[in-house]
Amino acid sequence: MWRERVAFAILAVVVGACGDAGGPADASLNLGGVGAVLAWTDPVGVAEATTTTAAAITALGGDEVSSLVGTDSGLLRLKNGQLTTFQGNSAQDSDTGRVAAIATRDVGAWICAAKGLFSVHVNAIARSSVSDALPAANLTAVAATTTAGVETVWLGTKDGLFRASAGQLDRVHIPQESTKIEGIGIADGVAVVALGSGRVCEVGLQDHKVRCAEVGPVRGVASAGGEVLVIDVHHLRLRRPDGKWQAWQMQSGEIQAVSSSAAGQLLALTSLGALAWRNDAWKPLAKISGGHLIGGESSGAITTANSKVLRHYGSGLDTSFSKDIAPILLAHCTNCHRDGSAAPKHDFADFATTRSLATALVQRIALGQMPPPPLAQLTSGEKKLLDNWYSGGQLP
Ligand code: HEC
Repeated sequence: MWRERVAFAILAVVVGACGDAGGPADASLNLGGVGAVLAWTDPVGVAEATTTTAAAITALGGDEVSSLVGTDSGLLRLKNGQLTTFQGNSAQDSDTGRVAAIATRDVGAWICAAKGLFSVHVNAIARSSVSDALPAANLTAVAATTTAGVETVWLGTKDGLFRASAGQLDRVHIPQESTKIEGIGIADGVAVVALGSGRVCEVGLQDHKVRCAEVGPVRGVASAGGEVLVIDVHHLRLRRPDGKWQAWQMQSGEIQAVSSSAAGQLLALTSLGALAWRNDAWKPLAKISGGHLIGGESSGAITTANSKVLRHYGSGLDTSFSKDIAPILLAHCTNCHRDGSAAPKHDFADFATTRSLATALVQRIALGQMPPPPLAQLTSGEKKLLDNWYSGGQLP
């Protein structure tokens, strides 16, 4: 009944044209509807490293240090191609058991595992006291949000939804449901919760009001920057910050996984490569084949996993401002954006200034408005570097 009023309005539905894409050299994926055919080229200078674990990989995530790898026997850190374990103050702190999900926090990450909820910060791991109040072995999903300095952790279990804040744990009642929570994403004002029954519900962060829609079995949920991604067997759905949903129809197996990177980006692992969602469009990050999980670090580097094999894609994605970007802007932009010129004065050699203008700057360049014609535009190599810097988290 409510569905007509509030349910997920499907704004665009396009069948991904995956099979007819030709060879790997010119592979393309029609993912965006409205003629958005992605050109897959290898990002500039991406270094790929492969590492193998002894245990089966169950979850991927990232933090400000590196990638986090959840396995069926515990949590590992992947850094410089090496896997290391975490140190807790006690055996109870380090013994997570099978890792079910990893969620980035403002600093560090939450780990949802067989032995409870754990927090990770740099090399330390600690079991949250909330774990004792939960049916611990049943944890399936986690997402965190911070409002006015208070962090709230939304937890999914095999039989329901919980909310932990300021040391208190509450069950959040979803009408007609006591099923497994498959995934949780945080949007502006609501948590988006995927249920094992095939329903996706929006739960008010404050009032806990619930509204649901039937979508079928969900395979992944991720959120970043007020947007939430949900994948089911045949759709990729995006909840925009204004609360509207957009859906892309997929061929089976086209999307393997979705995730949010510690750089605050939504990532999708497709059968052709890894994508990042930004500026209202899917951008190819790296051509990757195989893998059923994806995770992203705050550096913009990404990791994919396939049962026991990890692939890490580094350098090209973490382009640096001072090394790569400032010289381009100095050459093309400062002539006008200075004192005594008609253009607004912006010090493009300054990282903070440029970062605060990053979206406008990238758009103006992409639209061919800056530098203004008839001045020469940036070369495609320069645009690519700028693109990598922008999508890689805009690092100094
Ligand atoms: C020929 C002079 C000229 C050059 C070169 C130039 N700009 Fe501009 N730019 C302008 C003027 C004039 C404006 C204000 C009018 C407008 O917004 O279009 C402007 C506006 C902008 C704005 C909007 C600024 C604001 O304060 O809202 C951005 C962002 C920008 N430019 C970026 C760039 C970048 C990046 C480059 C280099 C790739 C560049 N510009 C090169 C003249 C120039």
